[in-house]
Amino acid sequence: MKKKKNQKKAGVFVLSVLLMLGLLLTLAGCGGDGSSAGAEENTIGEQANAAGTGSTASVIQIHTKGVEPKTEGIPDSRTDSGEVDTSGIDKEKPMIALTFDDGPGDGTERILRVLQENGAKATFFELGGRIQARPELSKKLAEAGMQMASHTYDHPDLTKISEEDVSSQYTRAEKAMEKATGGKPTALRPPYGASNERVRSQTPYPLILWNVDSEDWSSRDAEAICNAVYDANPGDGDILLFHDIYDSTADAIETLVPYFKEKGYQMVTVEQMFAAKGIELKNGTLYYNA
Ligand code: NI
Repeated sequence: MKKKKNQKKAGVFVLSVLLMLGLLLTLAGCGGDGSSAGAEENTIGEQANAAGTGSTASVIQIHTKGVEPKTEGIPDSRTDSGEVDTSGIDKEKPMIALTFDDGPGDGTERILRVLQENGAKATFFELGGRIQARPELSKKLAEAGMQMASHTYDHPDLTKISEEDVSSQYTRAEKAMEKATGGKPTALRPPYGASNERVRSQTPYPLILWNVDSEDWSSRDAEAICNAVYDANPGDGDILLFHDIYDSTADAIETLVPYFKEKGYQMVTVEQMFAAKGIELKNGTLYYNA
């Protein structure tokens, strides 16, 4: 009887402990859920904040700790600290660089949308004068992580103007871009692809030409642009020339970007392609492909 009573006491004790444990676990569970939901909210808040105002990298790091980096698509051309970003680019797989001259213009917005929809990046060689006319377009490109580059201020043949005028072309284009995007151009495409030793020696950027010409400026026809590119059969390391000022180019890009993606080509910026291949881009030097 006594023994039985003790057993009953022990049973009540065990039951109480179990109840308390259960209560503690429940509380811990609530706490856990609450804090993780809070953290998630913070993360989203910070990301939105970062996109809107470009808040500091350290804040973003705290809230994204343990979160897998985005592996889908090509990263922004540069990291927040200004380094060329090749993370997530598979160096064993083919890559090409789509480049757009003479903008920002009528095709820019549609081209940007197609690039974004397909996880692609590209390089935009903009004219300072056109940036001043439509600064919001340049800003959108820069914010989307594209490589922002110079095509001079108003498209002169640099070999036919004085050293002072070349310098002024670079400076005015740079100021226009800086005002619109907050960043400076990271490369130059000389108008008409024209340069000489004198021009190159005073150029504070790598001079990027191309080895595949879509001839979009001449045909102004989407089908002809696509065919010119298919005929050229671009391969790994190639630089393709387009102009984002034509609707016909935007039409062609809507076909070509999904086509290249389907073929397994990584569409990267010029500086990403050279960095991924271990080629250092030097100021005052001409490059046609990587
Ligand atoms: Ni041009």
